[in-house]
Amino acid sequence: MLNRINFYLPTRVIFGSGSIKDFLPNVRYLGNKFLIATGRNFARSSGLLDFVCKIMEEANLSFQVFEGISPEPTIDDCVKVAQAGKIFGADVIIALGGGSAMDVGKAAAVLIMNPGNLRDFFGEEKFDNEPLPVIAIPTTCGSGSEVTRYAVIIDPQENTKKTVSSERIIPKLAILDPTILRTLPSALVAGTSMDALSHAIEGFLSIKANHITRMFSRESINLIKNNIIEAVTTGASEKLELVFLGSLYAGFVINHTGTIFVHGMAYGLAIKYGIHHGTANALCLPYALTFLKEHGYFHDVEEIEKILTVDTLFDIYKKIGIPIKLSDIGLGQKDIKQLAEMAVKGCERSFRNMRVTFGMNDFIEIFSRML
Ligand SMILES: [Fe+2]
Repeated sequence: MLNRINFYLPTRVIFGSGSIKDFLPNVRYLGNKFLIATGRNFARSSGLLDFVCKIMEEANLSFQVFEGISPEPTIDDCVKVAQAGKIFGADVIIALGGGSAMDVGKAAAVLIMNPGNLRDFFGEEKFDNEPLPVIAIPTTCGSGSEVTRYAVIIDPQENTKKTVSSERIIPKLAILDPTILRTLPSALVAGTSMDALSHAIEGFLSIKANHITRMFSRESINLIKNNIIEAVTTGASEKLELVFLGSLYAGFVINHTGTIFVHGMAYGLAIKYGIHHGTANALCLPYALTFLKEHGYFHDVEEIEKILTVDTLFDIYKKIGIPIKLSDIGLGQKDIKQLAEMAVKGCERSFRNMRVTFGMNDFIEIFSRML
């Protein structure tokens, strides 16, 4: 018997070269005053922000720009964007950037319409009022945030990542223009696409997976596996485009399935050691798959291996510059205990999406294998 399918996809997705130029002038149906929220560097230095502003001006759309969202955004980033939005009187947020900018844009859309502290809104459907509509324009091929119900934000008080989760923060419109990726540094193409690959695989293994999400997972894994090496090493447009599509599909997946313990394991690497989110997930992924195969997921991992084996994954890592051992990022035996402690904390939510749970000794075992 098939798992019950509950699939909800409220985002209008516009995908293809030139789609920002062609579609952005037509967004007045969502509101009248647009706050463009973006990060510190890439949108400005790549010329993308100027390009977007020019399109908005030519279409006579009223807008303001907030620049400066951190790569690892905290509650403070969300408050600043919300304040800028309130002062301007924004009724739409345009989140332009990677997962960080999109997540902050979504959280700010909640804060503008709901009095209170963002901490009150961490968790599932924790706010009352409908947030502002969000237009997401992703500039990386990884987070999938342009189609998901999550805004992942660091709470500095607890030194961990928290999530605002609600169907009401799923962007109303996602414009994916693959030409943007041509200016993205190849290391970021590699790191962010491995985040997407991890989403596709973790989503496949989640207890919330169904036939539709598994279809998107399989296609996402195939698209990324078959195109990532050339996308990173040659920057070929047609390869970048297919990796971008794989990242979008992985977003459809995790919007329904969430992630499993790979993301929880990797939180410590990102927060404590400053490793890029996608790279941290990539490093944990093959070891996690092997461990899962030995602990209750034999047939599920076998299904994934029909598309992508752990050996092929390591081969891809070597070719696109992703670390394959903890020592590749300067960590060793001395770091294992702390990594395992952070994994236990980081995985609390992920275990809800799994048939088994792991404890301190399991994480020490997995991280030891990563030496
Ligand atoms: Fe991720």
